[in-house]
Amino acid sequence: MILDVKSLTKKYKGVNRELTVLEDVSFQVEAGEILSIVGPSGSGKTTLLGLCAGLDKPSSGSVQLCGSEISGLSEDEKAEIRNKKVGFIFQNFQLLPTLTAIENVTIPLEIQGKAKGASDKAKELLTRVGLGDRLTHYPSQLSGGEQQRVSLARAFSNEPEILFADEPTGNLDDDTSHMVEDLLFTLNKEKGTTLIIVTHDMELAQKTDRIIKLRGGHIVSDEKISSPEVVENHG
Ligand SMILES: Nc1ncnc2c1ncn2[C@@H]1O[C@H](COP(=O)(O)OP(=O)(O)OP(=O)(O)O)[C@@H](O)[C@H]1O
Ligand SMILES: [Mg+2]
Repeated sequence: MILDVKSLTKKYKGVNRELTVLEDVSFQVEAGEILSIVGPSGSGKTTLLGLCAGLDKPSSGSVQLCGSEISGLSEDEKAEIRNKKVGFIFQNFQLLPTLTAIENVTIPLEIQGKAKGASDKAKELLTRVGLGDRLTHYPSQLSGGEQQRVSLARAFSNEPEILFADEPTGNLDDDTSHMVEDLLFTLNKEKGTTLIIVTHDMELAQKTDRIIKLRGGHIVSDEKISSPEVVENHG
């Protein structure tokens, strides 16, 4: 099991009342699984991903990620796991504005002391997401969808064991969405990368192994998708 989430609750302190954003959320994910998380805006999807990846702390409950109980780890230890084993595609991309596309993608490799060959690898990844001719553009010189694809290339660069993707196709046209989907599924097939994908796109969700539905901070359903039968029509 690569992710074990137990009774997660997240509350924010408001001015005169507490806001419960997630309540008693539990689920487990096996290595190699492709899970989608769906639910209305404000239901807690991004919050949940942040807690699972150790980017944020729960009010109560626990998360075991890649064999470590993350609440017991120091910030440095968490960063180490994230650098080595986890990829994250943020809903708002979070590219570094002062770095070019290729520099944004090489950053995780440089942090790990893998600077050698990093540029070639970043170039290959950016080419795969259709940005081979945008390598030296800064984020401000890229469209929203292009920034999203840079953030995807960055998340792939350290070959993570588990990839959290927050609406990875949210800003993309149909063709580019399909390209991104193919890349994600190929990563899973070739490297066994576990994928946790937040999406509003039910067509994408139906292509994953399992769908968790969130509503008002609760899991309202958790269903395995039966593998699509190949129906051949010999009409
Ligand atoms: N730092 C914060 N302080 C207070 N409330 C917050 C904070 N972050 C998120 N929230 C609230 O938590 C709720 C869940 O937010 P979250 O971003 O997880 O939703 P979401 O399901 O990802 O929505 P969307 O589909 O719009 O991205 C929202 O109502 C939001 O206003
Ligand atoms: Mg969100």
